Amino acid sequence: QITPVLLCGGSGTRLWPLSRKSYPKQFALEIDSRSLFQATALRLTGRAEGCDFAAPLVVTGSDFRFIVTEQLASAGVDPGPILIEPSARNTAPAVLAAALHLLAADPGAIALVAPSDHAVPDPAAFHAAIARGLPALEEGRIVTFGITPERPETGYGWLELVGPVSADGTPVALSRFVEKPDSAQAGTMMAAGNFLWNAGIFLFRAADLVAAYRRLQPAMVAGVEAALATGRPDLGFLRLAEGPWTALEDISIDYAVMEKSDNLSVVPYDAGWSDLGGWDAVWRAGGPDAAGNVTSAHATAIDCRDTLLRSESPAVELVGIGLEGLIAVAMPDAVLVAAADRAQDVKQAVSALKARG
Ligand code: GDD
Ligand code: MG
Repeated sequence: QITPVLLCGGSGTRLWPLSRKSYPKQFALEIDSRSLFQATALRLTGRAEGCDFAAPLVVTGSDFRFIVTEQLASAGVDPGPILIEPSARNTAPAVLAAALHLLAADPGAIALVAPSDHAVPDPAAFHAAIARGLPALEEGRIVTFGITPERPETGYGWLELVGPVSADGTPVALSRFVEKPDSAQAGTMMAAGNFLWNAGIFLFRAADLVAAYRRLQPAMVAGVEAALATGRPDLGFLRLAEGPWTALEDISIDYAVMEKSDNLSVVPYDAGWSDLGGWDAVWRAGGPDAAGNVTSAHATAIDCRDTLLRSESPAVELVGIGLEGLIAVAMPDAVLVAAADRAQDVKQAVSALKARG
């Protein structure tokens, strides 16, 4: 059995004003009336195409614990353990806590780490890709999933392949993992042709991942072990101990482990995937019309080009006239208007508002 590890403690500030501190995008952004988090949990449930999933292990922040249980219940997913982080320390400590917790119960545990901010339109193809990765675990490999790059994206990790992508989609060894390159580096990798985007989804034996952390991040292992050992059960959640947790370095698994690992493999995946990290990605995933516009319910584009117009409330009508290259998102209590090519800067809105208090 594979235990899905659902990461959903991020703050998603680039999707402000839909994504809020108390209700971030993974819970707020809905596709076909399911939140991204619910869609992720449902995608990794039951038995399918050579995969057999155990109940998911969820790692999230204290503020989100009841949103998690409520959204899982309404999606009809029975949760496994839910680990509560006293504060956000990014994905490296979160994944390690999950792996150590699984390992304590089962020395042979297999985990699939899944971010909860992705759209995966073809779950069956995704399950088949996971199944193709499983044999590599026998050799102690950590399996990543690689997307054919479409642009020199600086917001992703890039995977350099040792050899060509295999015709049957079996795992290929990686020679390098480059997290969030600068734009010059991204351009070079795009042109080189032997790189794939890191989907941010990882498949491994818990024992192998913990061994990698012990080698690369020994202080983090000690800290997370202490946070687990002195953590306490709380209404069915496992609350990690605040003292040791807060002392941990705030770093993603990509920088802390993946960039430094020499036992990575990649399963190529090209059946559709997007990280809905910013409004530009939501625009792309929304399927722009012939004039390049994407509008939600209660939003209207008149003589517009390349706009994303979203009203997040039936009480707010949003109309754009004669606009070009613009993003507008209206909530009952906040409105974002931004140049489309500044979508990645929306997080500045959150810092500016925070600074104002
Ligand atoms: N529990 C928990 N705690 N979850 C977290 C935390 C945390 O402190 N920080 C982030 N997450 C969750 C987010 O909610 C999201 O579901 C997932 O972890 C990934 O975090 P992101 O912040 O969205 O990462 P990213 O998109 O910048 O980069 C990662 O994903 C890319 C593809 O989407 C990397 O793995 C890149 O290499 C990759 O290309
Ligand atoms: Mg992301």
